[in-house]
Amino acid sequence: MCGAWNAVVEELPVGPLLKAPNYQLGKPFELVRLDHVSADAARLKTGINELDRVCGGGIVPGSTLLLGGDPGIGKSTLLLQGLAGLNKENCRCIYISGEEAVDQIQRRATRLGIKDSALEVATNTSVGDIAATLQANPPHLFVIDSIQTMYTGNLDSAAGSVGQVRSSAQSLSQFAKEFGSAVILVGHVTKDGQIAGPRVLEHMVDTVLYFEGERTHQYRVLRAVKNRFGPTDEIGIFEMTNRGLIEAENPSESFIGARNGNVAGSAIFAGIEGSRPILVEFQALVSSSPFSTPRRAVVGWDAGRLAMILAVLESRCDVKFNGKDVYLNVTGGLRINEPAADLAAAAALISSLSGKTIINNAVIFGEIGLTAEIRPVAQIDARIKEAKKLGFEHVYTPSGGRTSKTSLQISEIDRLQQLVDALGVRE
Ligand SMILES: Nc1ncnc2c1ncn2[C@@H]1O[C@H](COP(=O)(O)OP(=O)(O)O)[C@@H](O)[C@H]1O
Ligand SMILES: [Mg+2]
Repeated sequence: MCGAWNAVVEELPVGPLLKAPNYQLGKPFELVRLDHVSADAARLKTGINELDRVCGGGIVPGSTLLLGGDPGIGKSTLLLQGLAGLNKENCRCIYISGEEAVDQIQRRATRLGIKDSALEVATNTSVGDIAATLQANPPHLFVIDSIQTMYTGNLDSAAGSVGQVRSSAQSLSQFAKEFGSAVILVGHVTKDGQIAGPRVLEHMVDTVLYFEGERTHQYRVLRAVKNRFGPTDEIGIFEMTNRGLIEAENPSESFIGARNGNVAGSAIFAGIEGSRPILVEFQALVSSSPFSTPRRAVVGWDAGRLAMILAVLESRCDVKFNGKDVYLNVTGGLRINEPAADLAAAAALISSLSGKTIINNAVIFGEIGLTAEIRPVAQIDARIKEAKKLGFEHVYTPSGGRTSKTSLQISEIDRLQQLVDALGVRE
C-alpha cells in the first residue's frame, strides 16, 4: 500500500537458502525426544485449596503467573498468605514489593497471623538487581508486587510504561524458566483503558488469574482466564476479613445465606462454576420509569444478555417492559457468565413485574433461545444435588438431561411461556 508506514518489507533474494550470499548459519540446538522428557516436577501447593485448584492443582515450577485485579481488591494479601503456606512445605519463597516498605509488609503479616513464617521479603524495583540477588540461590517461587513498579536499565522510559512493563515481565519470566523458579507477577488493572495493565502481558505468561469482586462486598473471586497447565473455568471464592482472606468452603451457603424470605423479584439460580455447583440469588426490580428512555442496569451479569431476555419476553410472551426501569442484580458480588442463568433472570424479572413470588424453596436454571424455547444445560444432576443439600424442595429445569433420581419436586420447562403462566403477570 502506498503512502503507509511500514509498507516496505525487506526480503532475501530468491534461491537456495544456504548458498545465498551473506547468509549466516545460527547455532545448533539440542532436540529432545518426547518420550525421554522427565516426568512433570511436583507442583507447588500453597495449602490454600481455592488458590491451588484455580492454578490447576498447584503452581508449576518455572512457570510465570500473572495475578491481575483492581487496586485494593486483595492481591498482596492473597499472595502473602499463599507464600506463607508454601513456606511450611520446605519451599523457599521470596516476596519482592515495589510498593510497600519491609516494615509495612511485616505489619500486614502480623495482622494476617503469618508473622512467624520463614518467607523472605524485600523492597526493590530494579529487575537487574532482583535477578542478581535471586540467581545466587534461586527460590522455588518468587512474587513481584507489582509489575508496574519494575524497571529494566535497558530502557529509558519510566516504570509503569508499556515498554517497561513488557520488558520487565519478559526478563523475569526468562529468569524463571532458566532457574526453575516459578514467578507470580502482580498487575493492577488500570481504570483508564488498561494501558500498561495486565492485558499487555497476557500473551507472554503461562497462567493469568484475575482477582475480582466488589470492594464493598466481603466476597472475592479468583478466576483463571488463561492456563497452560490447567482448566480455565475454575473459580476460587474467598471472604475478605480483617484477618485476611478466608476460603469460602461452602460458597452456596455464603451467597444465599442472607436471603430475606421469599419476596417478589427474587429467584435462586443453581449454577456451575468450574467443577462446582453454586447457588446464587438473582434479584430484579421493575418499576415505572420517569425517563423517556427507561433505565436498564445490571450488576453481576451481562447487560447484552438482559436486553435479549427482555426482548424475548416482550415479543414472544407478550410481557411488556416498555416505560419501566429494569434493574437486575446478582447478590454477593459474584459475576455469572453461564447462559443457564437466563431462566433465573427471566423468573426474577417476571416475578418483580407481576408481584407474584416464585414457589418457596425453588431453584431454577435453563438457557433461553430466541424463539423462547428453553434449552438443556450441562450437569443438571449436580445442580439438583446442591439444591437438595441446601434444603431446597423444588426445581425448575429444562426437560431431559437427568440421569439420577431425586426426591425433589421437578417442574420441567420447555417454553418460556410456561414460566410466564406460572408467575401470572398482572395487567
Ligand atoms: N488494617 C487493615 N485492617 C483490615 N483490613 C485491611 C487493613 N488493611 C487492608 N485491609 C484490607 O485489605 C485490602 C487491601 O488488600 P491488598 O492486598 O493490599 O490489595 P491489592 O494488593 O490488591 O491492592 C483493603 O481493601 C482492605 O479490605
Ligand atoms: Mg498490593
